[in-house]
Amino acid sequence: MHREFGGVVPELAARDHLKRLPHLLDLAVETAGVKTGDFDLLAVTRGPGLVGCLLVGVGVGEGLAAAWSKPLTGVNHLWGHIYAAMLTRADLEPPLLGLVVSGAHSDLVRMPVHGHFEVIGRTRDDAAGEAFDKAARMLGLGFPGGPALDRLARHGDPRRQPLPRPSLPGLEYSFSGLKTALLYRLRDLGGSATDRDRADLAAAFEQSVVESLLEKLETALDEQPVAEVVVAGGVAANSLLRRRAQEVVGNRARLTMPPLELCTDNAAMIAAAGSLGGAFRPAEVDPSLGWD
Ligand code: KG4
Ligand code: ZN
Repeated sequence: MHREFGGVVPELAARDHLKRLPHLLDLAVETAGVKTGDFDLLAVTRGPGLVGCLLVGVGVGEGLAAAWSKPLTGVNHLWGHIYAAMLTRADLEPPLLGLVVSGAHSDLVRMPVHGHFEVIGRTRDDAAGEAFDKAARMLGLGFPGGPALDRLARHGDPRRQPLPRPSLPGLEYSFSGLKTALLYRLRDLGGSATDRDRADLAAAFEQSVVESLLEKLETALDEQPVAEVVVAGGVAANSLLRRRAQEVVGNRARLTMPPLELCTDNAAMIAAAGSLGGAFRPAEVDPSLGWD
């Protein structure tokens, strides 16, 4: 639906949510083999995200809560990515250091206890997933490009067409310069870019993003050691990031990265955050919610 536009069209996405959600819900209840009385709490994403989609979700949530006489709690989408890791490991508890990398965020957070997050690093321009999607588009891979770039990079050598590694002081990220470097390199190659060039550039781009993400994670771990590290969000599905994160964290802490289906957006992570995240919160839509 969104591919021909090269990105998500908010209006189409909201309408599609409205169209698909009731059927999806029936299917989920049927597949899980549960009855409506089998659970204690409904959880719905209240932000951050696209306002139209959030409103549809909250509207459906409110309807179900009324029909089934169950309480409805509003969940922060970003918390969901961290709580996805707790679905993976039942004994995983804060305090932890988290890296959440998605289409709109590249955030380093400390979580001292359930339901509390302190942002210690973020991107000053593009998010990691956004950078992957834009790079993929330049390389002619369509949308969403992150997974396609991941696959192409496996056939490339990052040393043949090296790209700069972003480096800002402290725990800040920046990926827009790297994106411009790729654009100029492709422009210099003009029509003569071969499949091998494209694979090499994909590998170089991926390496720069991944090493930059992990460099700051490592700094944060050095500055304030902690026993548990979580790397989550859609970009945590990236194969190089998964491999390198394990090497970088090593035995300094225990690393948890959710399985692929729990890294990219999903409902299970919202259920986990709703039930484990502590205090009950009203389901008030806030498209630009931070980590509150
Ligand atoms: O968390 P998510 O599913 O949605 C948001 O909350 O944004 O993250 C989506 C992002 C997209 O930018 C997508 O291209 C990226 O995650 N992504 C990947 C991979 N799989 C998904 N990026 C790199 N490599 C992947 N394998
Ligand atoms: Zn997400």
